[in-house]
Amino acid sequence: MLSAQSTPVVRATLPAVEASLPAIAERFYQRLFDEHPALLGDLFNRANQANGSQREALASSIAAFAQLLVEHPEERPDAILARIAHKHVSLGITPDQYTIVGRHLLGAVAETLGEAVTPQVAAAWDEVYWLMANALIAMEARLYTHAGVEGGDVWRKMDIVERREESAHAVSLTLRSPGQEPAPPFLPGQYVSVRVALPDGAHQIRQYSLCSAPGSTSWRITVKREKATGSGAPDGEVSSWLHAHAHTGDTLDVSLPSGDLALHDTDTPLLLASAGIGVTPMLSMLHHLALSSSTRRIHVVHADRSPAHHIHRQEQAELVTRLKNASLHLWYENGAGTLTGPEASEGTVNLDRLSLTPETDAYLCGPLPFMRALRSDLLDHGLSASVIHYEVFGPDLWQSR
Ligand SMILES: Cc1cc2nc3c(=O)[nH]c(=O)nc-3n(C[C@H](O)[C@H](O)[C@H](O)COP(=O)(O)OP(=O)(O)OC[C@H]3O[C@@H](n4cnc5c(N)ncnc54)[C@H](O)[C@@H]3O)c2cc1C
Ligand code: HEM
Repeated sequence: MLSAQSTPVVRATLPAVEASLPAIAERFYQRLFDEHPALLGDLFNRANQANGSQREALASSIAAFAQLLVEHPEERPDAILARIAHKHVSLGITPDQYTIVGRHLLGAVAETLGEAVTPQVAAAWDEVYWLMANALIAMEARLYTHAGVEGGDVWRKMDIVERREESAHAVSLTLRSPGQEPAPPFLPGQYVSVRVALPDGAHQIRQYSLCSAPGSTSWRITVKREKATGSGAPDGEVSSWLHAHAHTGDTLDVSLPSGDLALHDTDTPLLLASAGIGVTPMLSMLHHLALSSSTRRIHVVHADRSPAHHIHRQEQAELVTRLKNASLHLWYENGAGTLTGPEASEGTVNLDRLSLTPETDAYLCGPLPFMRALRSDLLDHGLSASVIHYEVFGPDLWQSR
């Protein structure tokens, strides 16, 4: 809880901080990377830095946290924190790094807002930062303990035992621990981080959802290659590297599994809705449901450009047929007519066909416009926001924009 003396100060300065978030974020990263260049080369995602739009995730989450502290001090901020803590754990973030980040973030606020940052204002925002930092540090410590590792010790060598081209754009890699050790366990819907050494000497880290059956001795990830666009955006660094260089017999640096999108084991009806490469977390959930012979009412929805783009189409269909009460609904922008079977339609997802009930638990994964459209449809169908779970394949900005 924020102290009585800081609460009015934070409330009064929050609008100015929010209005200056892009400038604060820019200064923060400039200061941080000037002093610690290796953090940009080896820890932070440099594409997120270069394409600009996603630089504000860290600073804006602190503003959101501050808002909660002053407007709803009785609410626990666990939902905001859990996603960040899981992401940090998948990167091996340690408590000492919070001191460095705090110094540069608070320094950036002071430099950006200038004289408005009196000693009293600086102290109030220092308190906000450390409330959030300590809550994250505690949550991350619990996650490290739960995984049975020392704080930050999440990186493991994994052998690639199989490489499979799924389509012109996607490749699957099956990973095993060296020796006879089974791969560490994971919850359906979780991801791992993969770290690769790039030709310029930098190490870059990206996350990939585990799309195999939880509990099996190996893991599988499926990586879609991010191609350069005509508008000047370059090829994606890590996905292109994996497509070009990751082969059977090679070894990869992979983190322990993490992520808060894990499937809740209840008997409520379930909607698993994905688009494009967003199918990956849904597959591990489907494997889990099939292995546990679930009798839940399950609607599996998937949208894609065409049947040829639909990765793991056959496996998804087979898993659905193994489930007693599950149905599959596919929507393709093109080419649905080439398929036989009643489940494929041309166009975009239309939930009216599904007869969803308000107690349905919904899991979404795909591009932001797809998830935003579905979420608003689901709210219209009577689902409450608390049962709509989602995974964003990038920094989580979907509720702020
Ligand atoms: C929890 C989670 C799970 C995920 N699961 C999967 C999964 O199962 N499968 C999967 O394929 N992906 C998954 N992702 C996405 C994955 O982590 C990567 O983001 C993806 O592979 C792209 O990484 P990259 O290094 O290839 O591209 P990056 O190099 O990160 O580039 C990303 C984008 O930024 C653009 N860009 C880069 N530099 C610039 C610049 N200077 N100017 C303008 N634009 C620029 C690139 O063109 C590209 O479009 C997941 C992400 C998360 C967070
Ligand atoms: C109170 C302090 C902090 C807050 C509020 C915070 C917040 C965030 C948020 C919101 C994200 C994006 C999560 C997502 O949606 O994917 C993120 C990611 C990340 N954070 Fe933190 N963070 C803090 C401290 C730190 C520290 C101490 C480090 C280590 C130097 C760090 C390193 C990272 C990295 C590397 C990412 C991944 C994004 C990228 O690579 O661009 N963070 N953090």
